[in-house]
Amino acid sequence: MTLRASLHLDPARVVAPVSRRTFGSFVEHMGRCVYGGIYEPSHPSADADGFRQDVLSLVREMGVSLVRYPGGNFVSGYRWEDGIGPVESRPVRRDLAWHSLETNEVGIDEFMRWAAQAGVEVMYALNLGTRGVQEALDVHEYLNQPEGTHLSDRRGGKPYGISMFCLGNEMDGPWQTGHKTAHEYGRLAAETARALRSAEPGLELIACGSSNSAMPTFGAWEATVLELAYDAVDYISAHAYYEPLDGDLASFLASAVDMDHFVTSVTATADSVAARLKSKKRINISFDEWNVWYLSRFQNAPTPTEWEVAPRVIEDHYNVTDAVVVGSLLISLLRHSDRVTAACQAQLVNVIAPIRAESSGPAWRQTTFHPFALTSRLATGEVLDIQIDSPTYATPRFGDVPVIDAVATHEPGSLTVFAVNRSQNEPTELTFSVGGAPELAEAWLLADADPTATNTQENPDRVIPQPFEDITIDGDTIRVTLPPIAWAAIRLTT
Ligand code: AHR
Repeated sequence: MTLRASLHLDPARVVAPVSRRTFGSFVEHMGRCVYGGIYEPSHPSADADGFRQDVLSLVREMGVSLVRYPGGNFVSGYRWEDGIGPVESRPVRRDLAWHSLETNEVGIDEFMRWAAQAGVEVMYALNLGTRGVQEALDVHEYLNQPEGTHLSDRRGGKPYGISMFCLGNEMDGPWQTGHKTAHEYGRLAAETARALRSAEPGLELIACGSSNSAMPTFGAWEATVLELAYDAVDYISAHAYYEPLDGDLASFLASAVDMDHFVTSVTATADSVAARLKSKKRINISFDEWNVWYLSRFQNAPTPTEWEVAPRVIEDHYNVTDAVVVGSLLISLLRHSDRVTAACQAQLVNVIAPIRAESSGPAWRQTTFHPFALTSRLATGEVLDIQIDSPTYATPRFGDVPVIDAVATHEPGSLTVFAVNRSQNEPTELTFSVGGAPELAEAWLLADADPTATNTQENPDRVIPQPFEDITIDGDTIRVTLPPIAWAAIRLTT
């Protein structure tokens, strides 16, 4: 049976401009993301800095705009100064977060050269786990201070001009080195933010929100931290990872329902703090870790006993269903563009990543690469506030949810609809009108008769978006039929 749904959109009803920072990613010194991922000096494609050009070209193709660096849990024990100066004199350290060894071959200057080649902005995460205000000021001085001070002169060259700084990482999590209570962290975040602002008032500072919406302190954490740091910060972070638990694909396909709820809960909390403080300032969300992650497999794996450099950690293989969920999470992020103005898919290479790379071997696109790349390229102009009329289906975790989810972006002359069909068995016919005499510019479909199909080193293009042909335009009305478990992007000239 074919289900039927419709979208109602009006180019005059705008949510917000598309923020390019929605298409951020994340490079953590973890597993094979840096070493054996972006960096492998012995690889045939490596440049003089040791950066793999095959990986870099995929990063550019993916349309990544922003990269959070250097962690993650790693940053909460990291000494940034280990990664500067002559490489041969840099210390090897223990990384407690991932029970591995950090050689410090790649540090700030190398990473900033990589980021310049990739054409991405850097979001720099500060260590507020084992360190505090002084070290945050020091790394800021190294990164951004013009010449004439001790640390800016050690940098040499122009300041890097980084705008966005994360004030620590997941400080609400008991697993975090230097984990704190909301009150302890809120004080430290406020003090660090005020000191950084004395150095450079225009910085964009991100306080840690909850590590996920199931944390027992979710909501209370954000309220306490923001009460203490409201005037000093610009963003509160959000992190969310999704996986099919106990084979429950119905709920997994509806992960964006949880992301929507996460965003509306955090903005409501931030706005209620604003009301209590009588502040007109609005705190936005930096959704700086999100993805599909088969986390329970990692949690059930034995704890490593060896101390290795760049061990293989959480190198998830993504299938078609995972890619559809990634596409739907991007729909959710875009829908909230009025408050989610930066987001980072975690991570970029090898570690729960859209790009995979083998040592001395090839790099390839996982299934999840494709919805990201297409959304980054096609989401332009402004996000529209659309209404969706859709049949629903039952999920164990989220109750009844719409089968179809969608978002639209518009700029003069073109309109793009991104849509998912979450039904596992039924195709859904989707109808919408855009006014005028629209013509199809391009349309792509990610779906497969086998929703478990993956891309591998041997068959890297097993799953790629196909030109979407099941589209008819009748006057100003567009009719498309989405197969089960499908993500699509449809761009019209208007
Ligand atoms: O992305 C992997 C890890 O997930 C990050 O290091 C941490 O911040 C989060 O828990």
